[in-house]
Amino acid sequence: MKKIPINLPLIGKEEQQIVLNVLKSGVLTNKSGQGPMVHKFENNFSNYIGCRYAIATNSGTSALHAALLALDLKPRDEVIVPSFTFVATATIILHVHAKVVFADIEPETFTLDPIKINKVISKNTKVIIPVHLFGHPADMKPLIEIAEDKNIFLLEDACQAHGSEYRGKKSGNLSDAACFSFYPSKNMTTGEGGIITTNNEEFADKIRMIINHGENKAYNTIRLGHNFRMPEISAAIGIEQLKKLPEFINKRAKNASYFNLKLNNINELRLPIEKKWAKHSWYMYTLTIKDKNIDRNLIVKSLNDSGIGAGVYYQIPLHLMPFFQKMKIKNDDLSITEQISKKVFSIPVHPALSNEDLDFINEKLQTIIKKQNE
Ligand SMILES: Cc1ncc(COP(=O)(O)O)c(C=O)c1O
Repeated sequence: MKKIPINLPLIGKEEQQIVLNVLKSGVLTNKSGQGPMVHKFENNFSNYIGCRYAIATNSGTSALHAALLALDLKPRDEVIVPSFTFVATATIILHVHAKVVFADIEPETFTLDPIKINKVISKNTKVIIPVHLFGHPADMKPLIEIAEDKNIFLLEDACQAHGSEYRGKKSGNLSDAACFSFYPSKNMTTGEGGIITTNNEEFADKIRMIINHGENKAYNTIRLGHNFRMPEISAAIGIEQLKKLPEFINKRAKNASYFNLKLNNINELRLPIEKKWAKHSWYMYTLTIKDKNIDRNLIVKSLNDSGIGAGVYYQIPLHLMPFFQKMKIKNDDLSITEQISKKVFSIPVHPALSNEDLDFINEKLQTIIKKQNE
């Protein structure tokens, strides 16, 4: 049986060749700021995003962690995040000993609802982290207004949103800073890796120190830091992947249009929404069950049984996970989050899908829904 994974990194000869070149060069690290690949990758990425600075790290999680460390938060300080996200969005807050506050999402884009933010904001709120989930940007304008009004740092979790846009501007250049992941499932990969983007020079300088043992020059630590550096081999892969990113996103968008057209007849499903002000980067093609009689988990199981790598992101919202349930976490009503987590599932939309794959996924999904209606 043919297997169609939910996501697949597309690595070509270009990535193989550049990695070989790095290995032959013997320069494998950017430890003393002398890694040409990391420099080039950071430069190319900031140009792509349209921002002034980009600092590469060894994961999206370490990028987020470094960004919060740079803000020197105190234990009373609160950071507002959605509960409907990948766990790293929230755990990094605990790593810097600040307080997690969950806010609800809006049901169409699955991103932070600016209206709900006002209900959990307090004088201790220092950071808001909107997540551009599945490649659709959060509604940033009202969030920027809240952040400016209350002097709150706005940090985009753009780990799933390479190439998406908000009102004509790229995600990653919409707020004070942003973090991306280059995990192999993402729209582009470096193996493992991450990057922080910002227009703030002081913030960028702090990040450079934090990801390199707090050194302001070699072996001269002036603040607490880590080894969060991106290796040269990863940066080299990133250079080639970034060149292909626009093409990858176009193919994802084409695949999404195919599903939008073909699945439109299924009344029991709500198709993913692309707001007028957004350009989706289609990291995930996520459908929502509209009909109470349709069994979401059975759909996913039936697709999986046919070799289609459908999945549920995210079955358990963070506030209901055992780890977070043990803590007293401040949150308002998270009913949309809880409803959505019971209703969504994602199907493959990645650029490696052939026309036959697309037809196969469409046909299987149509048949499965028909069967459930019988
Ligand atoms: C929304 C979100 N935040 C953070 C991360 C963490 O990135 P990484 O897996 O590169 O550490 C991911 C990646 O999986 C993510 O999807």
